Amino acid sequence: MGWLDGAVAMITGGGSGLGHALVRRFVEEGARVAVLERDADKVAQLRQDFPSDVVAVEGDVSSLASNQQAVAAAVEAYGRLDTFVGNAGVWDGSVSIVDLPAEGLDAAFDTVFSVNVKGYLMGAKASYPELLKTHGNMIFTLSNAAFHTDGGGPLYTASKHAGLGLVSQLAFELAPKIRVNGVAPGPFNSDLRGPVSLGLDGASLTDGRTAEDIAPLLPLDYSPTAEDYTGMYVVLASNANSATTTGAVMQSDGGLRVRGIGRVSGGRHL
Ligand SMILES: NC(=O)c1ccc[n+]([C@@H]2O[C@H](COP(=O)([O-])OP(=O)(O)OC[C@H]3O[C@@H](n4cnc5c(N)ncnc54)[C@H](O)[C@@H]3O)[C@@H](O)[C@H]2O)c1
Repeated sequence: MGWLDGAVAMITGGGSGLGHALVRRFVEEGARVAVLERDADKVAQLRQDFPSDVVAVEGDVSSLASNQQAVAAAVEAYGRLDTFVGNAGVWDGSVSIVDLPAEGLDAAFDTVFSVNVKGYLMGAKASYPELLKTHGNMIFTLSNAAFHTDGGGPLYTASKHAGLGLVSQLAFELAPKIRVNGVAPGPFNSDLRGPVSLGLDGASLTDGRTAEDIAPLLPLDYSPTAEDYTGMYVVLASNANSATTTGAVMQSDGGLRVRGIGRVSGGRHL
Protein backbone atom coordinates (compact mmCIF):
# COMPACT_ATOMS: atom_id res chain seq x y z
CA MET A 1 0.00 0.00 0.00
CA GLY A 2 1.41 3.36 -1.03
CA TRP A 3 0.34 6.82 0.13
CA LEU A 4 -0.76 7.69 -3.40
CA ASP A 5 -2.45 4.47 -4.47
CA GLY A 6 -4.73 5.09 -7.46
CA ALA A 7 -3.77 8.76 -7.76
CA VAL A 8 -2.65 10.45 -10.97
CA ALA A 9 -0.10 13.28 -10.98
CA MET A 10 1.39 15.58 -13.58
CA ILE A 11 4.99 16.64 -12.90
CA THR A 12 6.89 19.22 -14.94
CA GLY A 13 10.62 18.86 -15.52
CA GLY A 14 10.48 15.19 -14.61
CA GLY A 15 13.41 14.29 -16.84
CA SER A 16 16.17 14.84 -14.30
CA GLY A 17 17.07 16.00 -10.81
CA LEU A 18 14.25 16.55 -8.35
CA GLY A 19 11.52 16.06 -10.98
CA HIS A 20 12.89 12.63 -11.89
CA ALA A 21 13.17 11.66 -8.21
CA LEU A 22 9.54 12.75 -7.77
CA VAL A 23 8.38 10.65 -10.72
CA ARG A 24 10.09 7.57 -9.26
CA ARG A 25 8.80 8.22 -5.71
CA PHE A 26 5.22 8.90 -6.84
CA VAL A 27 5.21 5.65 -8.83
CA GLU A 28 6.61 3.78 -5.81
CA GLU A 29 3.78 5.27 -3.73
CA GLY A 30 1.20 3.86 -6.16
CA ALA A 31 0.57 6.85 -8.45
CA ARG A 32 0.69 7.08 -12.21
CA VAL A 33 2.33 10.14 -13.68
CA ALA A 34 2.29 12.41 -16.72
CA VAL A 35 5.51 14.35 -17.25
CA LEU A 36 5.98 17.57 -19.22
CA GLU A 37 9.66 17.88 -20.16
CA ARG A 38 11.38 19.92 -22.87
CA ASP A 39 14.47 17.77 -23.37
CA ALA A 40 13.80 15.09 -26.01
CA ASP A 41 16.52 12.74 -24.73
CA LYS A 42 15.13 12.88 -21.20
CA VAL A 43 11.62 12.20 -22.54
CA ALA A 44 12.92 9.13 -24.39
CA GLN A 45 14.70 7.91 -21.25
CA LEU A 46 11.54 8.33 -19.15
CA ARG A 47 9.56 6.24 -21.65
CA GLN A 48 12.20 3.53 -21.41
CA ASP A 49 12.47 3.63 -17.59
CA PHE A 50 8.71 3.68 -16.88
CA PRO A 51 6.94 1.88 -19.74
CA SER A 52 3.55 1.56 -18.02
CA ASP A 53 3.18 4.02 -15.12
CA VAL A 54 4.41 7.20 -16.82
CA VAL A 55 3.32 9.08 -19.93
CA ALA A 56 5.97 11.57 -21.02
CA VAL A 57 5.10 14.61 -23.15
CA GLU A 58 7.76 16.73 -24.83
CA GLY A 59 7.08 20.45 -24.52
CA ASP A 60 7.87 23.76 -22.87
CA VAL A 61 6.26 24.70 -19.55
CA SER A 62 5.91 28.32 -20.61
CA SER A 63 3.37 27.24 -23.24
CA LEU A 64 -0.24 26.83 -22.12
CA ALA A 65 -0.83 24.43 -25.01
CA SER A 66 2.00 22.14 -23.86
CA ASN A 67 0.61 22.07 -20.31
CA GLN A 68 -2.86 21.31 -21.66
CA GLN A 69 -1.39 18.52 -23.77
CA ALA A 70 0.22 16.94 -20.68
CA VAL A 71 -3.02 17.22 -18.67
CA ALA A 72 -4.91 15.61 -21.57
CA ALA A 73 -2.30 12.83 -21.76
CA ALA A 74 -2.76 12.09 -18.05
CA VAL A 75 -6.53 11.94 -18.36
CA GLU A 76 -6.44 9.91 -21.55
CA ALA A 77 -3.97 7.37 -20.14
CA TYR A 78 -5.17 7.15 -16.53
CA GLY A 79 -8.66 8.68 -16.41
CA ARG A 80 -8.17 11.55 -13.94
CA LEU A 81 -5.77 14.08 -12.42
CA ASP A 82 -5.25 14.44 -8.65
CA THR A 83 -2.03 16.42 -8.34
CA PHE A 84 -0.17 18.99 -10.42
CA VAL A 85 3.50 19.46 -9.49
CA GLY A 86 5.10 22.60 -10.98
CA ASN A 87 8.79 21.82 -10.77
CA ALA A 88 10.71 22.62 -13.99
CA GLY A 89 13.03 25.51 -13.31
CA VAL A 90 16.17 27.29 -14.46
CA TRP A 91 18.84 28.99 -12.37
CA ASP A 92 20.70 32.26 -12.99
CA GLY A 93 24.19 31.09 -12.07
CA SER A 94 24.12 33.45 -9.04
CA VAL A 95 25.19 36.28 -11.36
CA SER A 96 24.91 39.51 -9.36
CA ILE A 97 23.34 42.80 -10.47
CA VAL A 98 26.87 44.14 -10.96
CA ASP A 99 27.96 41.25 -13.15
CA LEU A 100 24.78 40.77 -15.21
CA PRO A 101 25.79 41.82 -18.76
CA ALA A 102 23.72 44.76 -20.06
CA GLU A 103 23.30 43.13 -23.46
CA GLY A 104 22.03 39.79 -22.11
CA LEU A 105 19.83 41.08 -19.32
CA ASP A 106 16.49 41.33 -21.15
CA ALA A 107 16.76 37.83 -22.50
CA ALA A 108 18.00 36.37 -19.21
CA PHE A 109 15.08 37.92 -17.31
CA ASP A 110 12.62 36.58 -19.87
CA THR A 111 14.07 33.06 -19.72
CA VAL A 112 14.17 32.80 -15.92
CA PHE A 113 10.70 34.27 -15.40
CA SER A 114 9.11 32.44 -18.30
CA VAL A 115 10.13 29.06 -16.86
CA ASN A 116 10.05 29.68 -13.09
CA VAL A 117 6.95 31.89 -12.93
CA LYS A 118 5.00 31.75 -16.18
CA GLY A 119 5.56 27.99 -16.36
CA TYR A 120 3.89 27.55 -12.95
CA LEU A 121 1.01 29.85 -13.92
CA MET A 122 0.39 27.97 -17.17
CA GLY A 123 0.49 24.62 -15.39
CA ALA A 124 -2.07 25.86 -12.87
CA LYS A 125 -4.29 27.21 -15.64
CA ALA A 126 -4.14 23.95 -17.58
CA SER A 127 -4.64 21.60 -14.62
CA TYR A 128 -7.27 23.26 -12.42
CA PRO A 129 -10.34 22.08 -14.42
CA GLU A 130 -9.36 18.42 -13.87
CA LEU A 131 -8.32 19.05 -10.24
CA LEU A 132 -11.74 20.57 -9.51
CA LYS A 133 -13.32 17.24 -10.49
CA THR A 134 -11.14 15.22 -8.08
CA HIS A 135 -10.76 17.80 -5.28
CA GLY A 136 -7.07 17.53 -6.02
CA ASN A 137 -4.03 19.63 -5.20
CA MET A 138 -1.11 21.57 -6.63
CA ILE A 139 2.47 21.60 -5.33
CA PHE A 140 5.12 24.05 -6.53
CA THR A 141 8.88 23.61 -6.17
CA LEU A 142 10.27 26.83 -4.74
CA SER A 143 13.72 27.09 -3.15
CA ASN A 144 15.65 28.46 -0.21
CA ALA A 145 15.90 31.42 -2.62
CA ALA A 146 12.16 32.02 -2.02
CA PHE A 147 13.09 33.11 1.52
CA HIS A 148 16.81 33.89 1.74
CA THR A 149 19.47 35.80 -0.17
CA ASP A 150 22.46 34.22 -1.89
CA GLY A 151 20.73 31.11 -3.22
CA GLY A 152 21.01 32.73 -6.66
CA GLY A 153 21.34 36.18 -8.14
CA PRO A 154 18.52 38.74 -8.37
CA LEU A 155 16.80 36.98 -11.30
CA TYR A 156 16.47 33.57 -9.66
CA THR A 157 15.73 34.99 -6.18
CA ALA A 158 12.99 37.26 -7.51
CA SER A 159 11.48 34.44 -9.55
CA LYS A 160 11.31 32.11 -6.54
CA HIS A 161 9.82 34.89 -4.37
CA ALA A 162 7.20 35.29 -7.10
CA GLY A 163 6.45 31.60 -6.66
CA LEU A 164 5.57 32.27 -3.01
CA GLY A 165 2.98 34.82 -4.11
CA LEU A 166 1.57 32.38 -6.61
CA VAL A 167 1.13 29.68 -3.95
CA SER A 168 -0.75 32.11 -1.67
CA GLN A 169 -2.98 33.59 -4.34
CA LEU A 170 -3.85 30.25 -5.96
CA ALA A 171 -4.52 28.67 -2.55
CA PHE A 172 -7.00 31.49 -1.87
CA GLU A 173 -8.65 31.38 -5.30
CA LEU A 174 -8.98 27.60 -5.52
CA ALA A 175 -10.12 26.83 -1.95
CA PRO A 176 -12.07 24.90 -0.87
CA LYS A 177 -11.85 22.34 -3.68
CA ILE A 178 -8.14 22.43 -4.59
CA ARG A 179 -5.29 22.67 -2.06
CA VAL A 180 -2.19 24.58 -3.22
CA ASN A 181 1.15 24.30 -1.43
CA GLY A 182 4.87 24.64 -2.04
CA VAL A 183 8.09 22.90 -1.10
CA ALA A 184 11.21 25.01 -0.74
CA PRO A 185 14.17 22.65 -1.07
CA GLY A 186 17.67 23.65 -0.08
CA PRO A 187 20.70 22.90 -2.22
CA PHE A 188 21.35 19.57 -3.94
CA ASN A 189 23.47 18.74 -6.94
CA SER A 190 21.58 18.40 -10.20
CA ASP A 191 21.60 19.25 -13.89
CA LEU A 192 20.00 22.68 -13.22
CA ARG A 193 20.80 25.03 -16.15
CA GLY A 194 20.72 28.76 -16.76
CA PRO A 195 19.84 31.15 -19.59
CA VAL A 196 21.62 30.98 -22.95
CA SER A 197 22.07 34.76 -22.79
CA LEU A 198 24.26 34.35 -19.69
CA GLY A 199 26.19 31.49 -21.33
CA LEU A 200 24.75 29.10 -18.74
CA ASP A 201 22.80 26.66 -20.91
CA GLY A 202 25.83 24.39 -21.28
CA ALA A 203 26.82 24.44 -17.61
CA SER A 204 25.00 22.77 -14.76
CA LEU A 205 24.87 23.92 -11.16
CA THR A 206 26.91 20.85 -10.23
CA ASP A 207 29.87 22.15 -12.24
CA GLY A 208 30.43 24.85 -9.63
CA ARG A 209 30.13 22.87 -6.39
CA THR A 210 30.66 19.42 -4.95
CA ALA A 211 28.40 17.58 -2.53
CA GLU A 212 31.03 18.26 0.14
CA ASP A 213 30.61 22.01 -0.38
CA ILE A 214 26.95 21.83 0.62
CA ALA A 215 27.01 20.06 4.01
CA PRO A 216 28.85 22.76 6.02
CA LEU A 217 26.32 25.40 4.89
CA LEU A 218 23.39 23.65 6.57
CA PRO A 219 22.63 23.30 10.30
CA LEU A 220 21.74 19.65 9.64
CA ASP A 221 25.25 19.26 8.19
CA TYR A 222 24.74 16.86 5.33
CA SER A 223 24.52 17.00 1.58
CA PRO A 224 20.96 16.12 0.50
CA THR A 225 20.12 14.25 -2.69
CA ALA A 226 17.06 14.98 -4.81
CA GLU A 227 15.45 11.85 -3.33
CA ASP A 228 15.71 13.32 0.18
CA TYR A 229 13.18 16.03 -0.74
CA THR A 230 10.47 13.82 -2.19
CA GLY A 231 8.72 12.90 1.08
CA MET A 232 7.28 16.41 1.54
CA TYR A 233 5.61 16.18 -1.87
CA VAL A 234 4.09 12.79 -1.06
CA VAL A 235 2.55 14.19 2.13
CA LEU A 236 1.19 17.30 0.37
CA ALA A 237 -0.16 15.24 -2.55
CA SER A 238 -2.02 12.92 -0.18
CA ASN A 239 -5.42 14.35 0.73
CA ALA A 240 -5.62 11.77 3.52
CA ASN A 241 -2.46 13.12 5.13
CA SER A 242 -2.66 16.87 4.52
CA ALA A 243 -6.36 17.69 4.23
CA THR A 244 -5.88 20.67 6.58
CA THR A 245 -3.02 22.24 4.65
CA THR A 246 -3.25 24.84 1.90
CA GLY A 247 -1.18 27.94 1.17
CA ALA A 248 1.77 26.44 3.06
CA VAL A 249 5.38 26.21 1.96
CA MET A 250 7.50 23.50 3.57
CA GLN A 251 11.00 24.85 4.12
CA SER A 252 12.86 21.61 3.56
CA ASP A 253 16.34 23.11 3.42
CA GLY A 254 18.50 21.53 6.11
CA GLY A 255 17.55 24.25 8.61
CA LEU A 256 18.70 27.42 6.84
CA ARG A 257 16.10 29.49 8.70
CA VAL A 258 17.75 28.71 12.03
CA ARG A 259 21.37 29.40 11.04
CA GLY A 260 22.97 31.56 13.66
CA ILE A 261 24.99 34.71 13.11
CA GLY A 262 28.29 33.31 14.27
CA ARG A 263 27.78 29.57 13.96
CA VAL A 264 25.91 27.47 11.42
CA SER A 265 24.45 25.22 14.12
CA GLY A 266 24.37 25.54 17.88
CA GLY A 267 24.56 21.91 18.91
CA ARG A 268 27.72 20.51 17.33
CA HIS A 269 29.26 19.85 20.75
CA LEU A 270 26.32 17.68 21.86
N1 LIG B 1 19.37 22.00 -7.42
C1 LIG B 1 19.19 22.80 -6.40
O1 LIG B 1 20.10 23.08 -5.60
C2 LIG B 1 17.81 23.40 -6.15
C3 LIG B 1 17.58 24.00 -4.91
C4 LIG B 1 16.32 24.53 -4.65
C5 LIG B 1 15.32 24.46 -5.62
N2 LIG B 1 15.58 23.86 -6.83
C6 LIG B 1 14.48 23.81 -7.80
O2 LIG B 1 14.22 22.46 -8.11
C7 LIG B 1 13.55 22.41 -9.38
C8 LIG B 1 14.15 21.28 -10.22
O3 LIG B 1 15.50 21.61 -10.53
P1 LIG B 1 16.69 20.54 -10.50
O4 LIG B 1 17.74 21.09 -9.60
O5 LIG B 1 16.17 19.18 -10.29
O6 LIG B 1 17.28 20.73 -11.99
P2 LIG B 1 17.25 19.83 -13.32
O7 LIG B 1 17.78 20.70 -14.39
O8 LIG B 1 17.91 18.52 -13.07
O9 LIG B 1 15.70 19.58 -13.54
C9 LIG B 1 14.88 20.50 -14.21
C10 LIG B 1 14.18 19.79 -15.36
O10 LIG B 1 13.27 20.73 -15.96
C11 LIG B 1 13.43 20.66 -17.37
N3 LIG B 1 13.07 21.97 -17.92
C12 LIG B 1 13.77 23.13 -17.82
N4 LIG B 1 13.13 24.12 -18.47
C13 LIG B 1 11.99 23.57 -18.99
C14 LIG B 1 10.94 24.08 -19.76
N5 LIG B 1 10.93 25.36 -20.17
N6 LIG B 1 9.93 23.25 -20.11
C15 LIG B 1 9.95 21.93 -19.73
N7 LIG B 1 10.94 21.39 -19.00
C16 LIG B 1 11.95 22.20 -18.64
C17 LIG B 1 14.90 20.31 -17.58
O11 LIG B 1 15.13 19.75 -18.86
C18 LIG B 1 15.14 19.32 -16.44
O12 LIG B 1 14.83 18.00 -16.83
C19 LIG B 1 13.66 23.81 -9.99
O13 LIG B 1 12.44 24.50 -9.82
C20 LIG B 1 14.76 24.45 -9.14
O14 LIG B 1 14.63 25.86 -9.10
C21 LIG B 1 16.80 23.32 -7.10
